[in-house]
Parts: sequence; C-alpha cells; structure tokens
Amino acid sequence: MIPQSFWPGKSVVVTGGSSGIGLAVARGAAAAGARVGLLARTETPLEAASAAIRAAGGVAEWAACDVGDAPRVADAVADLERRLGGVDVAVASAGIHRTSWPLDARTAAEVIGINFGGCMNLAAAVLPGMLSRGRGRFCGIASIAGVVGLPGNAAYCASKAAVIAFLESLRLDAAPAGVLVTTVLPGVVDTPMITDAERRAGGVVSAADAAHAILSGIARGRPEIWFPRRTAMLARLARSLPPAIRDAVLRGRPRLEESPRPP
Ligand SMILES: NC(=O)c1ccc[n+]([C@@H]2O[C@H](COP(=O)([O-])OP(=O)(O)OC[C@H]3O[C@@H](n4cnc5c(N)ncnc54)[C@H](OP(=O)(O)O)[C@@H]3O)[C@@H](O)[C@H]2O)c1
Repeated sequence: MIPQSFWPGKSVVVTGGSSGIGLAVARGAAAAGARVGLLARTETPLEAASAAIRAAGGVAEWAACDVGDAPRVADAVADLERRLGGVDVAVASAGIHRTSWPLDARTAAEVIGINFGGCMNLAAAVLPGMLSRGRGRFCGIASIAGVVGLPGNAAYCASKAAVIAFLESLRLDAAPAGVLVTTVLPGVVDTPMITDAERRAGGVVSAADAAHAILSGIARGRPEIWFPRRTAMLARLARSLPPAIRDAVLRGRPRLEESPRPP
C-alpha cells in the first residue's frame, strides 16, 4: 500500500521519466496527487508522457537534457522548480545498458557517466534546495547488478555499485538535515531496457509493480528497496560465497543485451 497522505501536493522530479520505471513512478506519483517533472533527452516521448499524465487528471511538466551534463541538469531542475515549486522528491531513474565485453573505454565511460554521473548530478542539483527547506527525499534506481558482477556487464555493474555506495554515504550526511535517501535495487523489470529472452526467463516484475514498491518505500522513508524477493535473496547469497565459487556460478549466466539507443 502506498501511504496516501504523503504524495498530494508534492513536487516530484524524475529523470528517465519518459520510459520504463521512471515513467511508471511519475504516473503513480501524479495519480497519488503529486505534481511531476519529467526529465530525459528525447522530446517526443517526454511530451507524450506528460500529455498522458495530464489527460488522466494529473499535473506534469517536462524538460529535455542529458543527465550526464551537470550544468544542464541544474538548469533543467531550476526550470522545473519555477513551474512546479521546490523539489520535494527527486528520483534518479535515467540509465542505459551497454555491453562491456569486449571492453571499450569510451562506451564504459558513457555507461558510468549516465548511470552514476546522472544520479550524482541530480543530487547536486536538488540537494541545496532540500537542505535549505530542511526536508526532502532523494531516491536513486541502482540495481541488484550493483551487488554482484555479471558477465558482459563490467561497466553497468560498476555504475550501479557506485550508485549504491554514493547513496549509502549521502544518506549519512543528509538524514540529520531532514533529507531522506532511498536506494532501489531492482532485479529484472519489464521495460524497453530488457530483451525478449530476459522477459521469457521469468521472475520479471512489471514496471507498475516496481513503481508501486518504489513510491511506497519513498513515502515510508525506507533506506533501501529490493525486489523481487527471490532475486534479492540469490544476490545476497552469491555475495556471501567465496570468490572462486561465486565466479564459477556466475560465469555461465546469460549475457544481457544493450538497451535501445535514442534516434
Ligand atoms: N529494466 C530493468 O530490468 C532494470 C533493472 C534494474 C535497474 N534498472 C535501472 O532502472 C533505471 C530505469 O531503467 P528502465 O528499465 O526504466 O529503462 P528505459 O525504459 O530504457 O528508460 C530509460 C530512461 O532513461 C532516459 N535516459 C537514458 N539516458 C539518458 C541521459 N543520458 N540523460 C537523460 N535521460 C536519459 C531515457 O530517455 P532518453 O533515451 O530519451 O534520454 C528513458 O527515459 C535505469 O537506471 C536502469 O539501469 C532497470
């Protein structure tokens, strides 16, 4: 259950708000009474997502920018704040998946710059306002892939491990100032980022169910949200194995495909 009293009137900014988990979170927050600001690179899906939220009776604005570009993220957040009010809740969901085997340094840097850099840039843009108001919630979508290394995924796993460590540290500094930090560690969620092979493999969570868990966890001020339970349990188990055994178990795991590239 999402605590109903938390969301009405809140100003919520979601990066990656035009697709997948970010879009489902934005829709859910708007349906619960929040004013949402969507942020991503491509204008057409941002426009379509905002129009759909408004058509359902919600309040939605959007701004286009690359989350890897810190000054542009700061400008986009300032623009959304002028239209929606100071950010009460920020959700860093923008992300990409690219294979890391064979390893290409430029592609790896792109993955880390968007997945980790994007989370850090959003935090840097919204935290000053939250700290001055003495309240706020910051949520980053990491991944269970940040807990264990996976074949073909060195850069993606590193980017998510960085998000986990970054938010774990930020939480210590921000909580005494009234800002709660939530780390989300999903398994596989049914979005355009995953392939049909992953869909068929089972254990896939719908984006709507993922959003429900995230919105409920943010409203409750949870430090971490893991789902689904079975994948979370397997990841914790793998982490606890001796490294040589963990490598033998994980080496044969199917590789993930790359997420779609923007036009
Ligand atoms: N799906 C899963 O199984 C799964 C599991 C664990 C964690 N996650 C994480 O959850 C988050 C959301 O993934 P998803 O599955 O919802 O993916 P998705 O459906 O592919 O959506 C990705 C979103 O991020 C935006 N984006 C990508 N690069 C960007 C950039 N440089 N600047 C601004 N926006 C950017 C995309 O819009 P534009 O391309 O137009 O910019 C889109 O709105 C990601 O961080 C992902 O790593 C996903």
